[in-house]
Amino acid sequence: MTTAPVSPKPLPRFPRDFVWGVSTSAPQIEGAVEEGGRGRSAWDVFAAVPGRIKDGSDARVAIDHYHRYPEDVALLKDLGVGAYRFSVAWPRVVPDGSGAVNAAGLDFYDRLVDALLAAGVDPVPTLFHWDTPQALEEGGGWLVRETAEHFAAYADAVAARLGDRVHRWITLNEPAELTLLGYGLGQHAPGRQLVFDALPAAHHQLLGHGLAVQALRARGAGNIGIANSHGPTWAASASEADTTAADLYDLLLNRLFADPLLLGRYPDEGLAALLPGPVADDLKIISQPLDWYGINYYQPTRVGAPDPDAAGPADFGGILLPPELPFAPREIEGFPRTDFGWPVVPGALTELLETFRERYGASLPPIVITENGCSYDGLDDGERITFLDGHLRALHEALAAGLDVRGYFVWSLLDNFEWAEGYARRFGLVHVDRATLARTPKSSYRWLRDALRDQARG
Ligand code: FCB
Repeated sequence: MTTAPVSPKPLPRFPRDFVWGVSTSAPQIEGAVEEGGRGRSAWDVFAAVPGRIKDGSDARVAIDHYHRYPEDVALLKDLGVGAYRFSVAWPRVVPDGSGAVNAAGLDFYDRLVDALLAAGVDPVPTLFHWDTPQALEEGGGWLVRETAEHFAAYADAVAARLGDRVHRWITLNEPAELTLLGYGLGQHAPGRQLVFDALPAAHHQLLGHGLAVQALRARGAGNIGIANSHGPTWAASASEADTTAADLYDLLLNRLFADPLLLGRYPDEGLAALLPGPVADDLKIISQPLDWYGINYYQPTRVGAPDPDAAGPADFGGILLPPELPFAPREIEGFPRTDFGWPVVPGALTELLETFRERYGASLPPIVITENGCSYDGLDDGERITFLDGHLRALHEALAAGLDVRGYFVWSLLDNFEWAEGYARRFGLVHVDRATLARTPKSSYRWLRDALRDQARG
């Protein structure tokens, strides 16, 4: 490995206590789906259906992190990150989603946490990264309220085992994506195509978050956040049709998930009226104060009115949006693109953070960027360096403008199972060979390691 910096210009200096980390998730890296008493997840079942995963793969082995975690922890140590965001697989800990806790499942996370602490890396578990236990999915999954209650019981079990060593928690990852892609459009597990009837899944995930916060606090946890995906929505034009479409998209992808958490209300009363259960009481649970708010940022979205002549679904970075939706994605011109086709717009990160300050003001807790990254092939991944360098500079601008951002996590440490895309999209700082599963640090890994050393020099 070379130690020569790849980037010509050092990054601006971040605060001394800024948290630097990388993120992964259990269903994308662990594999070992039938070991240690793990139950089935909705993703196991979804990926087994021919045609669901674009490259015909599945995540039964994934990148075998379950067995190779010591090597992966060594990579984290060498990289020099202070924190590692991983997810705990609910079906590993509670195989049927409710009922008996599987001690052997918790043993794995026990070993992982100990290995991280021994390497000087702070463990930051996410309790749910889309792998709903299949037994619960068969009873309606997140469309039913009980799933939120079972989630809180599972959170309690994890905190009971790991809470003596884990001091930072994330409840959910991206409830917006699970609602839209999993229950609305059927392109992710559980493959339901309910369109707007998927909304209860949003409410129940938010309720699950709130109940899990209560469970974690009851176990003494004092540092809790959530990882929500957000990005600026740009109207395709100033026309009323386009701005109305863009506002609706923004409401569904951004405000539907941020307003209840930060303001204790849904962004639209008509929409709240569609949600099941005692919504006003639930909102009190959902909006309990958070210690920080996690944002996964990848790209802005340009949105316009639907095209009445559209021949078929619009392709939005791999996601197919049916023409009957009341909004349609439009190309963003003038920016480079990742291999996934996502536009690279670092300035939109600064814009997003400014928008959050305007919208939520004093109700906004400190922010942590819990995911940011890009898919590019190759070991000599200069484009990824340019991407990370650009986004970190944009983040620094937000800090300089007074925004309280406390940390930044790169998605991802390793190439992994990118959901319906299979293994074709490589987001890792470390390359993983599909045949041998050998790990090889890319140029971006060395760049980040050098940048972190530079930051540590103060
Ligand atoms: C996010 C997911 C994460 C990963 C990245 C590329 O939406 O949270 O698991 O797939 O996108």
